[in-house]
Amino acid sequence: MNPVKVGLLGLGTVGGGTVNVLKRNAEEIARRAGRGIEIVHAAARDLNKPRICDTDGIQLCTDPSEVVNNPDVEIIVELIGGDGLAKDMVMQAIEQGKHVVTANKALIAKYGNEIFARAQQKGVMVAFEAAVAGGIPIIKAIREGLAGNQIQWLAGIINGTGNFILTEMKDKGRDFDDVLKEAQQLGYAEADPTFDVEGIDAAHKLTILASIAFGIPLQFEKTFTEGISTITRDDVAYAEELGYRIKHLGVARRSEKGIELRVHPTLIPERRLIANVDGVMNAVLVMGDAVGPTLYYGAGAGAEPTASAVVGDLVDVVRALTADPENRVPHLAFQADALANDPILSIDDVETAYYLRMSVQDKPGVMAKVASILAESDISIEAIIQKEPVAEGSFANIIMLTHKVQEKQMNAAIASIEALDTIDGKVKRIRMETLDAN
Ligand code: NDP
Ligand code: HSE
Repeated sequence: MNPVKVGLLGLGTVGGGTVNVLKRNAEEIARRAGRGIEIVHAAARDLNKPRICDTDGIQLCTDPSEVVNNPDVEIIVELIGGDGLAKDMVMQAIEQGKHVVTANKALIAKYGNEIFARAQQKGVMVAFEAAVAGGIPIIKAIREGLAGNQIQWLAGIINGTGNFILTEMKDKGRDFDDVLKEAQQLGYAEADPTFDVEGIDAAHKLTILASIAFGIPLQFEKTFTEGISTITRDDVAYAEELGYRIKHLGVARRSEKGIELRVHPTLIPERRLIANVDGVMNAVLVMGDAVGPTLYYGAGAGAEPTASAVVGDLVDVVRALTADPENRVPHLAFQADALANDPILSIDDVETAYYLRMSVQDKPGVMAKVASILAESDISIEAIIQKEPVAEGSFANIIMLTHKVQEKQMNAAIASIEALDTIDGKVKRIRMETLDAN
């Protein structure tokens, strides 16, 4: 089947990231969607600007309506931002029966009711996962995963720029304006950064979350909005002394009297997981009556995290266009005829770091013998502790942390260590994972 042809409006932070992700993961994306997804036409203001993506093979222009009117294009991805031109382009695409994917929370929060009504009449999809919390699939989680619940409340750190500023102020004592400049350079901030620091961006996102959680129309104008621009380093420090963190939160809560919709700086006890969400990361806590509290965490802004959500929406739209209507989401996420034969590794071939604990005779040379067995097996030691024996002449505990090594190499080394007559019993082994980003 031919690839689906997509038109892209905007080649900035998110547009560039989307081109990169679609190109880099093309094969895997096609296996999930059932068809390739190809950007064929894109618009930006200045075609001479350096880009973060390679635009080879994409027809470029400066007039977004040229892309919308391209008869080959079936899906429009709107990544221009704002609610002027972007709204016109989205409405034009819908009129032409084209599906739309957007990351534009301002547009959805303010004009979503009108946009969705027209999209429904025209039988097209408008997908907007990237509009809330960057790369976290929070719309899908609430709309689909939690569909069996009555959502009672949700609370989230939903502006990456604001959280980045608060974190840098707290951890490094940096000035507000200085950190904001860095957030702009990193592509996190909105075109008008007052949207980030005055809470407007978070209010756009909260408006969308509340509609999805409670089944109410989008009502941005009713959201109470207070930003972080008045928070000082002293406030941050005093809150810390009292055991709290200041976070900019969006809160939506259903009560008997009505629905609370508010964004403002908030003191949160530091023991809460969400109080430890730092930098550009976002997190959303959702309380469902059946599931209880659930927490979703990930990068809230930036080129590829946001592109991840845009491409996820593209895959959803393409699946709906392509797949058997009874089976739009493949059971195993990839199309049934595109499952791969990658082998599952035996534990012997898996590489991890290790914690080793052994009980050794407390006499000279024992530690050196153990270390030489590990060295002969090409296992390097990261840290080592020897605990004093509880009584003279009894055994001492040695604890070692190793760097990464294959399990079978470690098994052989442990067998050699256990064979030493200076070792008592078995070597205790616990695999270690740092779970860092690399
Ligand atoms: P950028 O400013 O980086 O990109 C906007 C793009 O739109 C640019 O390529 C620009 O062209 C193009 N553009 C603007 N006006 C016109 C016009 N009149 N005609 C043609 N092209 C035009 O914005 P982002 O990528 O950061 O944001 C895009 C959208 O995604 C916004 O709605 C934003 O709120 C949302 N978003 C952003 C996130 C982020 O981390 N940045 C995260 C989640 C959502 P040119 O490059 O030539 O100036
Ligand atoms: N400016 C936004 C933020 C982009 O910092 O969260 C992601 O929506």
